[in-house]
Amino acid sequence: MSYAEVYRRSLTDPEGFWGEAAQAIDWDKPWDKVLDASAPPLYRWFRGGRLNTCYNCVDRHVEGGRADQAALIYDSPVTGTQRTLTFSQLRDEVATFAGALANVGVTKGDRVIIYMPMVPEAVIAMLACARIGAIHSVVFGGFSSKELATRIDDAKPRVMVAGSCGIETNRVVLYKPLLDDAIDLAAHKPERCIVLQRPQEPGTLVEGRDISWAEAVQNATPHACVSVEATDPLYILYTSGTTGIPKGVVRDNGGHAVALHWSMKHVYNVEPGEVFWAASDVGWVVGHSYIVYAPLLQGCTTLLYEGKPVGTPDPGAFWRVIAEHGVSVMFTAPTAFRAIKREDPGATHLKRYDLSRFRALYLAGERCDPDTLNWAETNLGVPVIDHWWQTETGWAIAANCLGIEALPVKPGSPTVPVPGYDVQILDDNAKEAKPGEIGRIMIRLPLPPGTLPTLWQKDDRYIASYLSAVEGYYLTGDAGFKDEDGYVFIMSRIDDIINVAGHRLSTGGMEEVLASHPNVAECAVIGVADQLKGELPLGLVVLKAGVDRAHEVIRKELVNLVREKIGPVAAFKLVVIVDRLPKTRSGKILRGTMKAIADGTEYKMPATIDDPAILGEVEQVLQSIGYAHHA
Ligand code: COA
Ligand code: AMP
Repeated sequence: MSYAEVYRRSLTDPEGFWGEAAQAIDWDKPWDKVLDASAPPLYRWFRGGRLNTCYNCVDRHVEGGRADQAALIYDSPVTGTQRTLTFSQLRDEVATFAGALANVGVTKGDRVIIYMPMVPEAVIAMLACARIGAIHSVVFGGFSSKELATRIDDAKPRVMVAGSCGIETNRVVLYKPLLDDAIDLAAHKPERCIVLQRPQEPGTLVEGRDISWAEAVQNATPHACVSVEATDPLYILYTSGTTGIPKGVVRDNGGHAVALHWSMKHVYNVEPGEVFWAASDVGWVVGHSYIVYAPLLQGCTTLLYEGKPVGTPDPGAFWRVIAEHGVSVMFTAPTAFRAIKREDPGATHLKRYDLSRFRALYLAGERCDPDTLNWAETNLGVPVIDHWWQTETGWAIAANCLGIEALPVKPGSPTVPVPGYDVQILDDNAKEAKPGEIGRIMIRLPLPPGTLPTLWQKDDRYIASYLSAVEGYYLTGDAGFKDEDGYVFIMSRIDDIINVAGHRLSTGGMEEVLASHPNVAECAVIGVADQLKGELPLGLVVLKAGVDRAHEVIRKELVNLVREKIGPVAAFKLVVIVDRLPKTRSGKILRGTMKAIADGTEYKMPATIDDPAILGEVEQVLQSIGYAHHA
């Protein structure tokens, strides 16, 4: 069937379409209804069905003939170690850790926060939660203790699972003190912490509360898979919203297993038994979906890489991993390729490796600039597929689905809507925009299986944030257009979210931190264009009257404050002090105009601007740090 036929069927007969896809999953009890549409705008998939996601990822492959196939390959250039777990070894380790969780009181529906680096135990902990029906919430290691505390207070975990440290190219990051600080800061107190003591830097355990991973598994007996409802939550993943309060995206069990399994063949064209590599982090949605769940559901070998594209040790690291482990399809963010291209523009390192088994590269997480796409395509000689998705959807909204039909690539576009997603561009009057006309990108409800059913314990916030802009539609938060061929182009966000090295960050959250500094009267944070990371946050700060401390000192304090309150991942290093901020007559700060000035792009003088002279002042200050120069 052609893409057009598959796509049409997914929208005209969603129940038939997804009901068929669901046959590929092992159910303990079949569903009563494929799509429960009884309470719009909330929809639920596979209501009444029962299954276990861990069983589908691990046990059924052991029983089905893949017991000795590698399930997970851990490749860690930062520690100089590699480890392979077969499906049967993975099953045993997951079952034992599930027993360890049960020993510390975790039962179905309890939350477990996982704060770990890229080690196999992170995957084992996630699957162990799934095995007993507990709800995991993985927090990325680059977030601060304050961000971790916010998540502890929202998810209210019974137990925390943490690594003692993470390893960055330039330093060892001590996770254990961050964990302790977070628990001190949080109002909710988890009962127990299980700490993986890494040899590089073991942590100090708090007596009565903490136990080591080794001790926890020593006393544990393997736990069986617990049958859960298709609609029960599998995990919560927090993502940046427009304020400092992150959104707890919920993923269910049934729809998630069906959609992710379907995506492996149809979107990525990967067969069971092949090696699939998502070079991301388990703390992000890409890590959840394409390091852990989807490849394992499909019976693939998944790769867990603890390293960077460059510097561990050189820009040939990705090619080494692909060659050494026989990777057939890889997924990463464009920023990783920009980093490689910058250090090795001629791709000389590529010549050292045999990439004959490599078939396709998928990029997502941020806009893929045509230069990077062309560089990757020319040097790798395989299809390079830009695809568009978000934490909320959990899998691709637009892609070139190589497993259905390879469509011609148009650089700058993630191609066409994926089956299941009715993507529409709506103008300010909620009318469908004409081809080429930019508007808000919306998805007509219901969203397909695997996408968020709600925000954790906040149906109201889910409806207010995503489902209220236009009745019957989900608001993606992205703006863009479709061309005459129906190709989607993603142009920008309509909110204050920026994308730094493929990481999603809220400028509003950073402004809250800057505003908390005692010398700051008001501030704005904008995302400025960056050749490596796509965007970088830049803070503009007005000091309170009478503050006469050295600006250099205040700037350093502000940089440190964001690092401490949000984390190093914010990559907040640019801050300037200005006399005034440009505003509209009603007092709204003109962030978009300042961004255009900083990037040196054309802009229209806003009709409602209060004092145009301020723009000139801001431009001068930005020029002094190397921005605001016309291309
Ligand atoms: N734990 C603790 N700190 C972390 C961390 C973690 N898990 N991950 C990143 N950090 C730190 C980094 O060390 C860096 O700190 P620094 O300011 O002291 O240098 C800071 O957070 C910013 O990290 P990052 O934006 O990743 O920058 P980088 O310079 O370390 O690396 C790239 C740049 C492009 C190589 C890297 O971002 C990359 O590989 N990105 C692509 C893949 C990806 O992760 N995509 C995500 C979604 S698909
Ligand atoms: P996250 O939730 O962290 O995955 O970030 C999702 C956001 O990243 C989207 O809403 C987009 O703004 C951006 N994004 C992801 N993939 C792409 C892509 N292929 N092209 C353009 N923007 C993208």
